[in-house]
Amino acid sequence: MSPTWPALLRVAGLIGGVPAAALLLLLAAGADPAAVGVGLLATALAALILARAWLGTLAGLEADLRAAAEGRVVPPHEPLLPAAARVAESAARLTRSLAAREAELSRLRRADAAIVEALPDPLLVLAEDGRVLRANAAARRFFGTSPGEGPEGRTADTAAFLRHPRIAGAVDRALAQGTPQSAEAVLPVPVARDLSTQVIPLDPPLADGGRLLVVLADRTQARAAERMRADFVANASHELRTPLASIIGFVETLRGPAAGDVEASTRFLAIIADQADRMRRLIEDLLGLSRIEMTEHQAPQGEARLDALARDEAAAMAPILATRNVTLQMDLAPATAVPADPGQLAQVLRNLLENAVRHGREGGTVQLSVRTLAAPEGGLAPGVLLRVADDGPGIAREHIPRLTERFYRVDAGRARNAGGTGLGLAIVKHIVGHHRGQLLIDSTVGQGTVMRVWLPGR
Ligand SMILES: Nc1ncnc2c1ncn2[C@@H]1O[C@H](COP(=O)(O)OP(=O)(O)OP(=O)(O)O)[C@@H](O)[C@H]1O
Ligand SMILES: [Mg+2]
Repeated sequence: MSPTWPALLRVAGLIGGVPAAALLLLLAAGADPAAVGVGLLATALAALILARAWLGTLAGLEADLRAAAEGRVVPPHEPLLPAAARVAESAARLTRSLAAREAELSRLRRADAAIVEALPDPLLVLAEDGRVLRANAAARRFFGTSPGEGPEGRTADTAAFLRHPRIAGAVDRALAQGTPQSAEAVLPVPVARDLSTQVIPLDPPLADGGRLLVVLADRTQARAAERMRADFVANASHELRTPLASIIGFVETLRGPAAGDVEASTRFLAIIADQADRMRRLIEDLLGLSRIEMTEHQAPQGEARLDALARDEAAAMAPILATRNVTLQMDLAPATAVPADPGQLAQVLRNLLENAVRHGREGGTVQLSVRTLAAPEGGLAPGVLLRVADDGPGIAREHIPRLTERFYRVDAGRARNAGGTGLGLAIVKHIVGHHRGQLLIDSTVGQGTVMRVWLPGR
């Protein structure tokens, strides 16, 4: 930017004023007017050149500093006055260091945002007035907000969450007391979720005005697991207590009122043996289940041919087939060997066959088939498929998802009379999981049940 003429003349006047006055005094004292005229002209010219150089240099420095303040990088240039070079150099260095610091700051801010975004737990940043300023990816997933909906992530779900009396209370306390607060809340919609929430006040606030961090932990699954464990202990002790109470009762009867009664003793002893056997089976099943669970994460070591195993197990079923008058139809194509624990697969076969016979129709037919799937079929990858089907009463649709829960029986009274404890399918499911296979249950009430086990090939 070039200096304006009035400014140039003012500065030139300051520089050349004194020598010009001296020349005029010389003229008054009788000096040669021509020489004085030349001197005055030279003085004016020099003053103008100096003023131009000074003002130009100062204007350049000012522009450099303004650029630095605005965060722009100034290209290096030579000032008009050599003495100003060092000042210009310092200004340039200041500009560079300011720019570097600005870049570092924005990098830190980006890193900060990236960390918040990538944290696995849902996290919200709230303003002083409770507005949602930011929601990380986990929070957007949790509250079902797409990134396109803006940084607020404010959907009906987020709003409902923040309105929950416990959460709102924790937010108010965190703001009032300036200390972290926690709150437990159950969000009923869209599915019931058990949340553990931490509200952390930020002092000083974040650059975007964020005053509160709200961190959520979804405890739904952990709570469900806790409940399941508690249920399991309650169920197991209940199942053991019933036959135990019956044994104790009969022993007391045998020692008291029935002492010496041979006929009663024989009958009661048979019941006692039955109940003791029931307890033994239950304990074996429970131990088996925990053994399978312990090895569930490792792939099975040996290998097995499912058709051969099925033939052996079917032969062993003869006595119970006879008691229920059930016909067994077998279709066992030679199957390829699959990586498997043969003992565990035998247990799967036993459980499925026993279920088909005991929960199926008395005098009915049970089909047992094994075949190799060479190509993908009906959503199943190549492998080996075992199928056990009966023509019994079937299982109502609402019970099917729960059949593999421990101790789950569709009709507890009837199943118990059939000798079941409700652990069979839980064991099957764990064994199939251990083999990285699938258990598929299909049933039509009044027509029968089809249980299929798919196992992956090598
Ligand atoms: N083929 C089937 N037809 C009808 N209902 C069945 C069939 N298989 C299983 N069920 C139902 O599923 C329930 C759970 O089966 P599961 O094998 O887990 O237990 P269980 O047979 O009662 O006892 P366990 O196998 O431990 O001796 C059974 O109680 C029965 O109600
Ligand atoms: Mg069973």
